[in-house]
Amino acid sequence: MVNVEEIGPVEIGEEDRLFVLTGAGVSAESGLPTFRDNGGLWNGYLVEDVATPEAWHEDAEQVWRFYAMRRRDALSARPNAAHTALARLEQRLGDRFYLCTQNVDDLHERAGSKRVVHMHGELFRSRCERACGRGDFFDEGIYTAAAEIPRCTCGGRIRPHIVWFGETPLFMDEIYAEIERCTMLLVAGSSGAVYPAAGFVQWARRRGLRTFYVGPELPLNASQFTERVMANAGEALPRLFP
Ligand code: APR
Repeated sequence: MVNVEEIGPVEIGEEDRLFVLTGAGVSAESGLPTFRDNGGLWNGYLVEDVATPEAWHEDAEQVWRFYAMRRRDALSARPNAAHTALARLEQRLGDRFYLCTQNVDDLHERAGSKRVVHMHGELFRSRCERACGRGDFFDEGIYTAAAEIPRCTCGGRIRPHIVWFGETPLFMDEIYAEIERCTMLLVAGSSGAVYPAAGFVQWARRRGLRTFYVGPELPLNASQFTERVMANAGEALPRLFP
């Protein structure tokens, strides 16, 4: 384990490819709450009880209000030094850099990241619950109006483009292919509680790669990391990747 004062830049060779996984901790310094640090509660409800297909089925208005609140929070947040460091790293490494995030906010993009793989979906995208094929909805208006769930032209309700508990994460084939060809893996700000993301580091370890964790506390899968930097991402990432 290393403290932030001891951190020097990570050497990245010409042949190296870096796979990065970010979690809620990376947006914490932008003021967005993580899931498990605050007990995972929202209005007295467990996040696991609001972010599920069952919750949508039973009380869609409540689910819609939950995401309306999270959209408002995200809209007023600003990217922090961790997002900026990762955007700079992408510029430096080009396609030898792969950024996969569990976060549904758009702070990586707003910091300048060009290619962000949102494996748990995106707050600012919505789609018809019936998968009728009309495609994505990008209408700003529906994000801020908390009260009513908009309808698709087919009559179906518009649901958030979010991977709920019990649903399959997105882009998994592409993500595993990238883990297979990377030479280093970095995880920042994720508690290691939710699979499949929590298992990515294990894949990299099986191949004998260097694996870095950045965050103020040890994650549940801490033993899989060869290097653990106990610090906030906004402080540590600019030092690791200046
Ligand atoms: N910098 C880095 N890490 C931080 C910071 C910080 N400034 N502040 C907190 N953390 C760490 C916490 O110590 C914790 O380990 O971020 C982690 C956040 O963990 P979770 O809240 O569990 O978030 P995450 O791992 O991203 O959750 C995974 O669970 O609820 C679902 O779909 C949701 O994508 C989410 C998934």
